[in-house]
Amino acid sequence: MPAPNIETIVSLAKRRGFVFPSSEVYGGLGSAWDYGPLGVELCNNVKQSWWRWLVYERDDIEGIDSSIILNRLVWKYSGHEATFHDPLVDCRECKSRMRADKLEGYFPEGDHSSGFDANERLRGGLVKCANCGSTNLTDERYFNMMFRTTLGAAADEDDPAALAYLRPETAQGIFINFLNVQTAMRRKVPFGIAQVGKSFRNEITPGNFILRTREFEQMEMEYFVKPDAEHLKLVDEWVELYVDWFKGLGIDGSNLKLHEVPQEELAHYSKRTVDIMYRYFPERPEEERQWEELMGIAYRTDFDLRSHSSKPVDEEGNRVNPDSTDDLSYFDEPTKTRFYPHVIEPAAGVNRTVLAVLMDAYSERTNDKGETRVILKLSPQLAPIKAAILPLAKNKPEIVGMAKAIKRSLQPTLRAVYDDTGGIGKLYARQDEIGTPLCVTVDHQSLEDEAVTVRDRDTWEQERVKVSDLAEHLQRRLQP
Ligand code: GAP
Repeated sequence: MPAPNIETIVSLAKRRGFVFPSSEVYGGLGSAWDYGPLGVELCNNVKQSWWRWLVYERDDIEGIDSSIILNRLVWKYSGHEATFHDPLVDCRECKSRMRADKLEGYFPEGDHSSGFDANERLRGGLVKCANCGSTNLTDERYFNMMFRTTLGAAADEDDPAALAYLRPETAQGIFINFLNVQTAMRRKVPFGIAQVGKSFRNEITPGNFILRTREFEQMEMEYFVKPDAEHLKLVDEWVELYVDWFKGLGIDGSNLKLHEVPQEELAHYSKRTVDIMYRYFPERPEEERQWEELMGIAYRTDFDLRSHSSKPVDEEGNRVNPDSTDDLSYFDEPTKTRFYPHVIEPAAGVNRTVLAVLMDAYSERTNDKGETRVILKLSPQLAPIKAAILPLAKNKPEIVGMAKAIKRSLQPTLRAVYDDTGGIGKLYARQDEIGTPLCVTVDHQSLEDEAVTVRDRDTWEQERVKVSDLAEHLQRRLQP
């Protein structure tokens, strides 16, 4: 049973130290969230799982970590300066500002093609304000979503020479390093470059907790292949691999579905994109409104490597990119040909993965006393804490000493905590709610038989284990 709605997770996340509203002491900052002690562990575990899966377990992918602020020209030639914008409208009645293409009536019935006049529809009263339902809306205007900043102490606010952007995707840091990585690591296509890190978008309507924020983290991989590779089939292959990866993180397949992005909605660089959607809104009665994008897998062609290269020329023979000093083409030794590799890009969000994992792991169970308990059935690899060591009596120094010693002995190899801040029932309930797979209880008997009770989060079953076998026992039970 996944969480009934996102609000259930917002409340659990705050109560138990996963995610807090940011800047709360000053009234918050709409759409910004801070990850608490358990949230940071969960994020790190998602990122580590992804990195291990792609960079360590495969032989054809390298990792990098590029700058967040890149030369402004990167964003000129990537197309982001000209096209990374959303249509914006204001409601004259309630004064809210919204993304126009998300409003009811914006697109003609069943037609998302670009061959219609949005302002004509807005003026004709066909489009409804998402806040108050009024059709008294302004014309749309375009708003570039890149965050602007200026570089250097002396820079004037409007100095175009000092203008820079916070990256809106991690992908460009990979493209501009393609040749560096390829030559330094002596790679031959096909191979991929992976990067995880923060991206920034000045979203017009952020919201739904960590689903859409202005600062977020991406896990992107650019997979470089030959121009004549079977690109569309490769998209399907990566979709399948990612669906399996998400399932491996504990997400139920029935809460995932694929969405083939229509031609007219593709990003400027894409020839084909398939989105993997997650059911973030199970409470909505209309099935089609329950889903939102978890990640996208795009065929980006050779668009980016070509755009950043010095050599390509237009029909008149003029350089397409007169600012670039390098050519990012690749020489294929066996065929003695030079080309710009084509790219398949699986682009996932850390925060959206964390939200999907939390929603899917959520469950409730009623105990013998009729009390309903929350159990977060996180997969052991993602659980922030793997084992909690609990003394049955906190006023018995021998028991406390033994429990603390066990915690210390386990900590080098797995994340363990010691907790004595309540009765055992309360301590179990707290660990269940934060997804700790195993609890280890030290009791009076332990002092005599050198054994402890290991309790399973999902079944509540208990097993007696010798302290000398405990580390190995826990490692085995935590295996995926
Ligand atoms: N390089 C391609 C790219 O950035 P995207 O579909 O715009 O593609 C990829 O972003 C993923 O990044 C999304 O599927 C989503 O998981 C995450 N993402 C994008 N915008 C986000 C936002 N405002 N808040 C949280 N996550 C976001």
